Amino acid sequence: MNKKIIVGNWKMNPESVDKSREIANEMNKNSKFFKNINLIICPPFVFLNEVSKIFLKNKKIMLGAQDIFVGRGVSHTGEVGSVMLKNIGIKYVIIGHSDRRESLDDEFLVREKIFGALKDGFKAILCVGEKERNEHGDQYNEVRAQIESAINKLPKRLIKNLLIAYEPIWAIGKSEDEAVKPEDLHEMTIFIKRVVADILGIKETEKIIILYGGSVTKNNAKEIIEKGNVSGLLVGRESLRPDNFIELIKSID
Ligand code: PGA
Repeated sequence: MNKKIIVGNWKMNPESVDKSREIANEMNKNSKFFKNINLIICPPFVFLNEVSKIFLKNKKIMLGAQDIFVGRGVSHTGEVGSVMLKNIGIKYVIIGHSDRRESLDDEFLVREKIFGALKDGFKAILCVGEKERNEHGDQYNEVRAQIESAINKLPKRLIKNLLIAYEPIWAIGKSEDEAVKPEDLHEMTIFIKRVVADILGIKETEKIIILYGGSVTKNNAKEIIEKGNVSGLLVGRESLRPDNFIELIKSID
């Protein structure tokens, strides 16, 4: 049985290193109860080092970064590059989250980061998702365009390390009953697989891992996973509340 993948995206939280340690310690302590879960925690850069010390010996929790800089050279003020991330044990990188697409990362940068991160040996979580859903199905065109621009001509050997997180923007940070409907998610995951198959071939597509993100809580996680046809979840807000997050994880484990 394939393990479910749960990504905790802390975004720009918490406010202090003490609080980040507190959350990480709580997750660390409780992870001994996880059976079929790969948990990936993605704190902001400033807390990565501290949190990495807490998870050092934990085989059930891996660390991810919320972004990466993949340009070469040494003089890039304000950026955090591959080697630095590798040296503190980062295995996963979130790329193209809608928060960043809104103001910082355009499609060219997202593509550059996907190619760069995969070539540098990370597992890359590509976030895609439409702004709005309508009955004309424009959401499918939007998602197709995002995937095509990010992975067109990606060397096939790299696809095994690619995850696609479907995160419709309208469903992010809302109440739990505003999350995607599982049957709509099911259709979207089939569509995403078809898009990837068109780009990289059917054989490669078997390896693709699709996650869902957007207002997942302990109350809707199980139904979303079971009926939505996804391999895991990308969780924002609830990943900062250890009690809720642990319950969420147990509900699908
Ligand atoms: P949310 O965030 O779970 O708070 O909706 C998801 C995300 O933005 O990754």
